[in-house]
Amino acid sequence: MDYQTVYQAITGRHSVRAFTSQTVDKALILELLNVAARAPSGTNCQPWQVYVATGAARDRIVTEVCALHDAARSDKAVAEQYTESYQYYPEQWISPYIDRRRENGWGLYGLLGIEKGEKDKMHEQHQRNFKLFDAPVALFFTVNKAMGIGSKMDIAMMMQNLMVAAQARGLATCPQAAWNHYHKVILPIVGASEDEELVCGMALGYADETEIVNKFITPRVKAEDFTHFVE
Ligand SMILES: Cc1cc2nc3c(=O)[nH]c(=O)nc-3n(C[C@H](O)[C@H](O)[C@H](O)COP(=O)(O)O)c2cc1C
Repeated sequence: MDYQTVYQAITGRHSVRAFTSQTVDKALILELLNVAARAPSGTNCQPWQVYVATGAARDRIVTEVCALHDAARSDKAVAEQYTESYQYYPEQWISPYIDRRRENGWGLYGLLGIEKGEKDKMHEQHQRNFKLFDAPVALFFTVNKAMGIGSKMDIAMMMQNLMVAAQARGLATCPQAAWNHYHKVILPIVGASEDEELVCGMALGYADETEIVNKFITPRVKAEDFTHFVE
């Protein structure tokens, strides 16, 4: 086993927020998903379904969700209609997580030249999520609503495998929970049944290395600071 290769694939991955228009072969997407599906899952349930939207389906999702996200900004009733599929973040944030979240947000905005109070620019940047950061491929991960909360762990592991395998193949990704707000629009377009819940979206494609947003590399807390050896 070549540790260095595995190490580079894991540590070289980062969330990419600007893609080129280069398409991704269907065979390659399937290869990545087959590797990703080697992820462990509780009692090997493999509780995931994955919808891969490209071409007209991708464009339709982008157009419809961008329009809704614009509408939600000015119309509270629209915003209230599009609540996320499940609560990802806490209602009441606590330190140090809120501090890291702020540092992350301002780090990204700082790189993009967006300052405090520049709400239009912030909205535009958030809207980039729903343009899929121009990626040609949108992935939507769903789980049957009958399954337990643990299934989201299984799907997260599968998603991480996919992102690392994509990295090793020269592709780039951005996991996107932002889509979860628009599950009511997305799931019917991709043909998911009403029994399914949207767990996460993901942009997949080739990184546009000329875009400054892709220079954003996030810090990590050292293992020494979050690990507790109990002997
Ligand atoms: C489940 C999940 C959902 C995420 N959703 C979004 C999203 O909607 N939009 C976005 O720009 N980044 C999203 N991210 C990316 C995180 O901001 C990113 O992983 C974090 O800042 C660490 O940076 P890195 O991925 O570049 O290492 C998400 C990450 C995860 C794990």
